[in-house]
Amino acid sequence: MAEFRLPANSRVQPGREHKAPAGATRVRKFRIYRYDPATGGNPRLDSYEVDMDRCGPMVLDVLIKIKNEVDPTLTFRRSCREGICGSCAMNIDGTNTLACIKATADVRGDVRIHPLPHMPVVKDLVPDLTHFYAQYASIKPWLQTKSPPPPDRERLQSKADREKIDMPSNCILCACCSTACPSYWWNPERYLGPAVLLAAYRWVADSRDEATGERLDELEDPFRLYRCHTIMNCTYTCPKGLNPAWAIGEIKKKIAERKL
Ligand code: SF4
Ligand code: SF4
Ligand code: FES
Repeated sequence: MAEFRLPANSRVQPGREHKAPAGATRVRKFRIYRYDPATGGNPRLDSYEVDMDRCGPMVLDVLIKIKNEVDPTLTFRRSCREGICGSCAMNIDGTNTLACIKATADVRGDVRIHPLPHMPVVKDLVPDLTHFYAQYASIKPWLQTKSPPPPDRERLQSKADREKIDMPSNCILCACCSTACPSYWWNPERYLGPAVLLAAYRWVADSRDEATGERLDELEDPFRLYRCHTIMNCTYTCPKGLNPAWAIGEIKKKIAERKL
């Protein structure tokens, strides 16, 4: 499923070896993708031996330790350290996930760390998400209404209606799912991908939104929506346990139902 091993003819070169400090008691090796477009050259895989008896348990703890103590040039994104912000998304041991909630103990052998697959690389583990965010903006991810708001309160929603948007509202836009999707790899310019389609579904399913027809019109497109072939990598890899593949199916169902 969402396993992305380097092909045999990969141009990623073996890189520098950083040995564990003297006296280390529980050493593990981390093989980390390094690439700096500013300096040119092929990407390389640097390896770092880390004493896990002097490091936190998560992959992000290891990256921070390496950056602080061994190699300050190592570049990655992080913010919340709680699986909330989505910024530490990367490919760890062949699966897209969040470095801050991925325990090193869950990986056997050397830990391979790459940026999210099939995205341009800004530097090392930092992908360029400009296009991903532009696609997100294209689905107008905000409440659209035509009726005047109630004079004395907010637009209310029943508990049952709110439950319909619970799952998609929990998306943190980490892009793990979209960058695990083969359809998105092959057509990133035209296919919206699972993360953006899950966001589109969140507004289509919102009982307060009054632009459902226009939203479905925009989505009904052989590429924007129908490049999804239900391969399910997206749902398999989502670190928040969400189900974008199901949401995509629901959008297709709503489009079909309005033609009945
Ligand atoms: S659906 Fe999951 S994997 Fe995809 S962007 Fe949202 S949180 Fe990340
Ligand atoms: S179910 Fe659709 S969106 Fe998800 S990985 Fe497969 S093709 Fe991509
Ligand atoms: S640092 Fe925020 S999700 Fe990992």
